[in-house]
Amino acid sequence: MEPKKSKITVRKVSRTFISADGAKVDALENINFEIEDAYSREGRDTGEFRVLLGPSGCGKSTLLRLIAGLDQADTGEVLVNEQPVHGPGKDRGMVFQKYTSFPWLTVAGNIAYGMKINGVPEQKRKETVAQLVQDVGLSGFENSYPETLSGGMQQRVAIARTLALRPSVILMDEPFGALDAQTRSEMQQLLLKVWDETASTILFVTHDVEEAVYLADRIFIMSAHPGTIIEDVQVPFERPRDLSLKERNEFHELQNYVLGRLRRAPGNGQVRVSV
Ligand SMILES: Nc1ncnc2c1ncn2[C@@H]1O[C@H](COP(=O)(O)OP(=O)(O)OP(=O)(O)O)[C@@H](O)[C@H]1O
Ligand SMILES: [Mg+2]
Repeated sequence: MEPKKSKITVRKVSRTFISADGAKVDALENINFEIEDAYSREGRDTGEFRVLLGPSGCGKSTLLRLIAGLDQADTGEVLVNEQPVHGPGKDRGMVFQKYTSFPWLTVAGNIAYGMKINGVPEQKRKETVAQLVQDVGLSGFENSYPETLSGGMQQRVAIARTLALRPSVILMDEPFGALDAQTRSEMQQLLLKVWDETASTILFVTHDVEEAVYLADRIFIMSAHPGTIIEDVQVPFERPRDLSLKERNEFHELQNYVLGRLRRAPGNGQVRVSV
């Protein structure tokens, strides 16, 4: 069997910032991990759903930004699809907590924007937009402007915009952090559904334990000051998953285990469980 290719490689990565008062902040210290290309789930290849979980300030966003090519490590290297990252690229899509749609474009315009920039022909753009609008539950809102939509709907636009470019890696930084519990749950399910239809690898940042356990194949638990990965937790629950998983004992047991690990780590106190 051929060795699996690496989708994301992070090797000996450290990043230090100088804060406004001149203090040195070790945002990341010696981070090492690899996410393999396509793994096989029930006989078909798919990307991995990896979650970065940790308290505020443990370097989650910093790590995501390095992989996105929006920042550079002080030491070590970051590779995506086995190529060193020197800047942003269309092999990586990003979804942030803050809604990042263009306010002057309609929902359809926002979803089509990246494809237009990348020279995708108009007919193909139209087809892709129509499909994505359906996939993310935005039918009937194609001609609406983002600011007229709820937070959950705006995140649907952000997800559709990202999927439109078919990135092999999707980087998500607390994308549901600003949503109410009900909408958040709906968006988690939606994300699992659309991810299931792509072969994308997702690297998803959260500080919500329940969200991490529900979504992930594997969770990296991080601790702060310096930002490090303290544990790699396998999440064994079968897929497809639906919300009834959150009612199960095994789910609560794993959630409690992860929470305990986090609480014992430095930089704790800002971790919550939403049950
Ligand atoms: N540009 C910067 N200049 C100075 N310090 C920074 C900068 N970016 C991040 N930091 C510091 O690095 C540390 C890690 O920040 P980061 O934003 O990656 O944490 P995080 O895990 O994403 O936190 P949160 O959960 O609050 O989003 C923090 O102490 C932060 O203050
Ligand atoms: Mg952050």
